[in-house]
Amino acid sequence: MTASTSSLPCRLALKGDLLDFTASPAWGAIDSPAVRFQPGHWLLIEAGRIAGSQLEAPDETWERHDHSGRLILPGFIDTHVHCPQLDVIGSYGAELLDWLNRYTFPAEIRYSDPAVAKFGAERFLDALLAHGTTAAVVFPTVHKVSAEALFEAAAVRGMRLVTGKVLMDRHAPDGLRDDVEQAERDCIDLIARFHGRDRLAYAVTVRFAPTSTPAQLAMAGALCRADASLFMQTHVAENRAEVAWVAELFPTARSYLDVYAREGLLHPRAVLAHGIWLDDEDKRVLAASGAQVAFCPSSNLFLGSGLFDWPAAQRAGFQVSAASDVGGGTSLSMQRNLLDGYKVQAMAGHRMTAWAGLHAATRGAAEALGLAHEIGSFDVGTLADVCVWDWASGPVAQARQQVARELHEKVFAWMTLSDERDLVSCYVGGKVRFQPDKGH
Ligand code: GUN
Ligand code: ZN
Repeated sequence: MTASTSSLPCRLALKGDLLDFTASPAWGAIDSPAVRFQPGHWLLIEAGRIAGSQLEAPDETWERHDHSGRLILPGFIDTHVHCPQLDVIGSYGAELLDWLNRYTFPAEIRYSDPAVAKFGAERFLDALLAHGTTAAVVFPTVHKVSAEALFEAAAVRGMRLVTGKVLMDRHAPDGLRDDVEQAERDCIDLIARFHGRDRLAYAVTVRFAPTSTPAQLAMAGALCRADASLFMQTHVAENRAEVAWVAELFPTARSYLDVYAREGLLHPRAVLAHGIWLDDEDKRVLAASGAQVAFCPSSNLFLGSGLFDWPAAQRAGFQVSAASDVGGGTSLSMQRNLLDGYKVQAMAGHRMTAWAGLHAATRGAAEALGLAHEIGSFDVGTLADVCVWDWASGPVAQARQQVARELHEKVFAWMTLSDERDLVSCYVGGKVRFQPDKGH
């Protein structure tokens, strides 16, 4: 595998089957006007931004990459993933709270070492690119250096990254706790140095309610109130034992979500992972706040957490994006996560179209994050974060594609049978950032 450092061509054109969304597809709609499919078209990129698309080949003033017969999508956006948890992906036999103590916290303690943090951040972002994910909302660890390392590594790669030092000042082992005053100083310094620089943004990052004292949650809320351009990320209502623990720790809160709501942590730039065990009032509060839930199906299945009800979220009117939650999740591949998402919905008798899934991993995530002017589609003026995929590899997927009759069938089969091994090329801001060594 190679991460190319090729220079940025001024005018670049990519040919292939272009697929993106112009709006949100209606739930369950196979024929959706929100789907923009342009087979055999050229995607035009000027100075790293999308400049348009056309059927006819552009002239020789354009550097042309002909990917005819391949699928071209906007880079995926993973709205909830943990950098240090590549080391614990696929850990056996535990539900959330046991899994955190047994596997995750010990792995995260190592990130106090700047060398571990730097190596881990670079390896993690390269792994995202190798899975076709060009933008992400990421948890590092409690250590300031782990957030610095991620910001620095994303800037080098030109990636859109939202992250922030994890806040956790209780119920965690030695070496993995901060305190309110130091954490506040670290957040203020990181915000000053990285928020709004290049394609970086700061997220006030509360691990989850049990690992922050009320004083720390109040500090986090004050940071959000002081600057509405900050993001916020946390976990909520993932697992039943976790929900019961939060009720014990915060007896005056109406619900788990209310612990965050009453501190001012819910706002349009808030990303809450999971949200499986929310009640109707929580759903109303979420919708009114403009916050989104990151649906993490592979994690929810792997940790036995529960089945997120996406149609109920639609009815309540809050936004849902797609996420891997590695290392609770078992793959960085958004195709694999979307396939798990389909299965989760199917268990409840719902049908998630390929359009709903792919939209939630591209334009839908971008809109929920307030970043649709930059990422998530082929709209003119957005940055050219673009991935080229094989429609199929191997005899089973190839045979399936050959008999697919209409577009949704073809794309749904791709979503179901594909993974990162089908990635041909990954462009970030119009520059090749990943190309597998597979002889293309
Ligand atoms: N809740 C608190 N921390 C974590 C974490 O690291 N992963 C998941 N899946 N849930 C959490
Ligand atoms: Zn998580």
